[in-house]
Amino acid sequence: MLAQAARNLDVACRFYADSSDVPGATMGTVISGSLDDDAQLARFADGLDVVTYEWENVPVSAARRIEEFTPVLPPVRALEAAADRLAEKRFFAGLGVPAARFAPVDSREALDDAVAAIGFPAVLKTRRLGYDGKGQAVLRQQADLDAAWDAVGGSPLLLEEWVSFDRELSVIGVRGRDGSITCYPPIENQHHAGILRVSTAPAPGLTAEIMAAAARCVTRALTALDYVGVLAVELFDVGGRLLVNEMAPRVHNSGHLTIEGAVTSQFENHVRAILGLPLGDAGVRGFACMVNIIGDLPPVSEVLAIPGAHLHLYGKSPRPGRKLGHVTVCADTLAQAHQLRGRVEAIAGEPA
Ligand SMILES: Nc1ncnc2c1ncn2[C@@H]1O[C@H](COP(=O)(O)OP(=O)(O)O)[C@@H](O)[C@H]1O
Ligand SMILES: [Mg+2]
Repeated sequence: MLAQAARNLDVACRFYADSSDVPGATMGTVISGSLDDDAQLARFADGLDVVTYEWENVPVSAARRIEEFTPVLPPVRALEAAADRLAEKRFFAGLGVPAARFAPVDSREALDDAVAAIGFPAVLKTRRLGYDGKGQAVLRQQADLDAAWDAVGGSPLLLEEWVSFDRELSVIGVRGRDGSITCYPPIENQHHAGILRVSTAPAPGLTAEIMAAAARCVTRALTALDYVGVLAVELFDVGGRLLVNEMAPRVHNSGHLTIEGAVTSQFENHVRAILGLPLGDAGVRGFACMVNIIGDLPPVSEVLAIPGAHLHLYGKSPRPGRKLGHVTVCADTLAQAHQLRGRVEAIAGEPA
């Protein structure tokens, strides 16, 4: 989707991936190699104007290697801050952005201490490489500690206070090379089994306070990191008060609906930002809902029979829990958007 946005601007793309069989292969040259192959990374970077990433677990060492030849945007320090949940929590705390209480856990004894400080319920998370709710264990009582430790212990961890949120939001901001910043209105996200299932934008019932708090949170992070590109911040809405959950230094799944639901998509704005071009309007067009296609492919003709449904398939083979594509529906009213969304969900079925 990034490459599709780039192509509209006559910008050619080259991709680095662990295999040549990736969606990007239809959009440009793929250089395949591992992220610790310095020679291959150098071949990839040779002659490029700028390198960006759409996966936050790119090792910092790989990004630094590429930086020897070509500017990397968003800046590598953003990768560093987002790759480790503890660094990320401390980063937001330093910005004065409210978040759930947390404590580092590096041993079974430290887990007891952290539980004593934070209480139940809480969630134990791996500091690195977690996604789609993987690498997490919920603790409700003392008896859960051993099982949680068996499940995720062994790598550096973080214990976090459980937040009884009313809903989850994300806010997507973009910062240009000249420091200009623009933010999309907050998006409401519903997860199923730890995987994003449905996003709605703008989030229903937004107040001026929520809009301002979300914009403040992402703006502070963008500025502090001297960031260039799209940054997404996940938030918990607790009775109108926002707590930061995590950030993603890349285009975000919840922002896929900006392709049809905003004046300028997150993908185009990311490309504009990293190339030093003027940012586009992040305003919305009516209401948009996005439903992820997870695990199984729905019948294409049934999806396309829904008025205004925009189907995006990624060319990936079905596998339980894998995001294979998404459908976005747009409408003038929230009620209409939800009605269309219901029709998409009925076809896309429950996630595998
Ligand atoms: N402290 C928490 N309180 C309540 N729910 C949480 C908490 N942390 C995570 N979750 C739930 O688990 C989901 C995944 O956690 P997250 O920290 O975003 O990890 P990732 O998206 O990297 O897997 C969140 O979207 C949220 O639904
Ligand atoms: Mg998350």
